[in-house]
Amino acid sequence: TWTPAAFVETTVATLKEQIGDGKVVLGLSGGVDSTVAAILLNKAIGKNLYCIFVNNGLLRKNEFESVLDQYKDMGLNVKGVDASERFLKALKDVSDPEKKRKAIGNAFIEVFDDEAHQLTGVDWLGQGTIYPDVIESVSVNGPSVTIKSHHNVGGLPDFMKLKIVEPLRMLFKDEVRRVGKEMGIDPELLGRHPFPGPGLAIRILGDITAEKVRILQEVDAIFINGLKKWDLYDKVWQAGAILLPVNSVGVMGDERTYEKVVALRAVESTDGMTADWVNLPYEFLQEVSNHIINRVKGVNRVVYDISSKPPATIEWE
Ligand code: XMP
Repeated sequence: TWTPAAFVETTVATLKEQIGDGKVVLGLSGGVDSTVAAILLNKAIGKNLYCIFVNNGLLRKNEFESVLDQYKDMGLNVKGVDASERFLKALKDVSDPEKKRKAIGNAFIEVFDDEAHQLTGVDWLGQGTIYPDVIESVSVNGPSVTIKSHHNVGGLPDFMKLKIVEPLRMLFKDEVRRVGKEMGIDPELLGRHPFPGPGLAIRILGDITAEKVRILQEVDAIFINGLKKWDLYDKVWQAGAILLPVNSVGVMGDERTYEKVVALRAVESTDGMTADWVNLPYEFLQEVSNHIINRVKGVNRVVYDISSKPPATIEWE
């Protein structure tokens, strides 16, 4: 029978044999899959694993710093690359959802290629691909997205010429979490909600500006921290906030306001392929809505998304 301990043992042995004293470069996303893949590779080849964690400027509030710290505590050899400006520039005046994804994918390729270029003698690209990614090829992390949409374009970036190593290819998400637990990865990291590679860009409808990212980061932090405080975070499969390209009229004191609307979304799911909206307690929604409207400048209305997938999708773009 399959056990996490046996999986770790055989996988580490296989990776050792497969890679020998070769070098591997791997893009970390802060999520469960890439982290577990990195820890397995680290066990097998140690310092010959070079991890890159890119800040695309579309992460959650303080996420880049906190995740980078966490990685260092785990003994991983990680380079944090702050490419926020580059991504924001690539996204300037882009409103179409597919064009946003393309722009982000291209920026990831450029950043990753620049970084991989600086490493000499690397022959492998490590990836946190899991079984559902293999069969669905939809829900993949940052750099993998770019590989899929660009594999047949001439003049491949250098890192795409590398051999691929994917230690989690045969596992489902819950098995990945069990393997991570077996290796002593922080339960908080293992229990993190899925977060899309394009990040907050696909939760800001319309064009993206630094100010909109800041507003959404604040709203999202209040919502997510609220879920944790109310002990609801682990009961929800995924949650987040969406900044709508709509202003609505409100009143603050004696003044008329004309400010942004945000939508909150929380879903139950097992694999993201289908999802139901979560019946969050009214008292919770009330508290979070009050906090958002009182504390986040530029937002005067909060709505809750009660659509299931299908026919809606989890993300709005
Ligand atoms: P949808 O919106 O298609 O999302 O119902 C299903 C799941 O996939 C995540 N998602 C992505 N993950 N890169 C990713 O790594 C992406 O481009 C992407 N798009 C959607 C979404 O957050 C949800 O968990």
